[in-house]
Amino acid sequence: MCGIIGYVGTRRAAPLLLEGLRRLEYRGYDSAGMATLEGKLWVRKDAGKLEEIERKLGLSSLPGRTGIGHVRWATHGSPSRRNAHPHLDDSGEVAVVHNGIIENYLELRRVLERKGHRFVSETDTEVIPHLISHFLRRGEGLERSVERAVGELKGSLAVAVLYAREPEKLVGVRRSSPLLVGKGNGESFLASDIPALLPFTRRVVPLQEEEMVVLTPSSFSLRHLPSGRAVARKPMEVKWTAEMAEKGGYPHFTLKEILEQPWAVGETLRGAGEEAEKLSRFLLRAEHLYFVGCGTSYHAAVVGKYLLAKLAGLQVEAVVASEFSESCGGDGRTAVLAITQSGETADVLRAVRHLRSLGGRVACLTNVVGSSVTRESQLVCYIRAGPEVSVVATKTFTSQVAYLLLLSLRLGEESGRLDRTEKKELLSSLLASPGLMERALRSSLTRTKALARKMLEEEHLYLVGRGLGYPVAMEGALKVKEISYLHAEALAGGELKHGTLALLEKGTPVIAVAVPGESKGRLMSNLEEMRARGARMIAVAEERDREVREHADLLLPVPRTGEFLSPLTFILPLQLLAYHLSVGRKLDPDRPRSLAKSVTVE
Ligand code: G6P
Repeated sequence: MCGIIGYVGTRRAAPLLLEGLRRLEYRGYDSAGMATLEGKLWVRKDAGKLEEIERKLGLSSLPGRTGIGHVRWATHGSPSRRNAHPHLDDSGEVAVVHNGIIENYLELRRVLERKGHRFVSETDTEVIPHLISHFLRRGEGLERSVERAVGELKGSLAVAVLYAREPEKLVGVRRSSPLLVGKGNGESFLASDIPALLPFTRRVVPLQEEEMVVLTPSSFSLRHLPSGRAVARKPMEVKWTAEMAEKGGYPHFTLKEILEQPWAVGETLRGAGEEAEKLSRFLLRAEHLYFVGCGTSYHAAVVGKYLLAKLAGLQVEAVVASEFSESCGGDGRTAVLAITQSGETADVLRAVRHLRSLGGRVACLTNVVGSSVTRESQLVCYIRAGPEVSVVATKTFTSQVAYLLLLSLRLGEESGRLDRTEKKELLSSLLASPGLMERALRSSLTRTKALARKMLEEEHLYLVGRGLGYPVAMEGALKVKEISYLHAEALAGGELKHGTLALLEKGTPVIAVAVPGESKGRLMSNLEEMRARGARMIAVAEERDREVREHADLLLPVPRTGEFLSPLTFILPLQLLAYHLSVGRKLDPDRPRSLAKSVTVE
């Protein structure tokens, strides 16, 4: 996720762009930059926080009445001056800021390099100005060149384009990443999100999929690119406060991030490509495999362990990072995949260093480009879920799971466990999973709110699962504990009779995570054992799952995904339940007591 902004009007652009970027910093804060137009393009950019860059380079003193700006959250190429946006073509006449992921940038870059274009960054974005300039040189106009360039790009994008020879014009395009027009008097804006526009105007026009906009100080014109149709759309009046706007209109970042999971998973799957292939080769070379992580990332590691066993017949041990050096050995034949959203968790770094000291190899799966774990790893993989602001991890969990699913499918094919057709079918279901997650979220929002209302006074909650439902239950229990302070315990269905059954009384709430698959029948027997003790059985299950319906008092349905993809949807009602419990108990889910987003002490 990154933030982009653009301005064309009668005032000096740079101070306005800076003001807008300050309000987009929650979308990315590892680098920032600006390009303005006066006679020529003026560009200033660097790695670091926006305010530091402003102090160092004086972004706001750039000249001109047209300009674009960017705050970056790196996905391709580490945070550095070279990789910061805007990116330019060879002639220095086309400047582009971009939010999204270009999947085919390597191919395009090779083609353009063969035609003589010189690239200076490691980003996927840089292909865009080069492509535009390629079409400009062939005599096309600016709009047509942008359109043709976009036609070559696969992936997600929101872009703003500045061209030195057309100083009173700004062009924007949206595909899968958000982009809005803000209309003022005699001035027009482009931005990734509403907060950036609020200091200047409340009249906003959201772009829809595959639309292009051409802005001048006095006008904006929209066009739907595939059909070529002009689109008439009136500005709407935004009534949000600045704080609400930063949270996308939601009361908390936690809720915003829960609801943005379909997008985040889409980005993860779009970005993984060759990197996931390298990771599968890296893991296949090892004789002993470990996935390590803490908290939510550990739960993703456990999901990964089950997936690799089921889909590829590969044995992985999932280990809590803080226990790794105590319980695991290793040598040159051992490999670890360190799973960590922040890449800074001290226990994870220690585990990784421990294995390296024994001669083992390390790969990491993280969300933060250039984080400490990336410097300790021989292979670095990213989930590309965008910055996660809320202390509790939500969207990064499903992104980690999506990545591990992709990995398991590759390994499944390599190992011969999955034939081509099976892999193809599962892969296409995985690529379609964001749509199912969207449905699961929509159907769970009010149901979980009503359920939370009934559970506000509870002191204990138990979650049970079998198979892939077990790590999902663990993650659900963690969410509930972290933000609602209700004691929640997760257990594997088979373990009930070895202790916890003794704690169940009449009315004790229990949530069964009833994922489809071979173990579900056995979980149903567990449900009966618990019901016989008076437990109130709530079940997360696939819609129209009659069997579960018969054994539960209340159902939280999710769309049908089949067993392997189930962690992506089954966790969603549990996250939402935790959120509603927190809000219902008058707590602030964004700031749970005693917890930190990134734990850098052991
Ligand atoms: C902290 C956070 C958790 C997170 C854990 C691991 O405890 O509060 O949300 O799951 O650290 O963080 P990591 O960045 O390594 O995934």
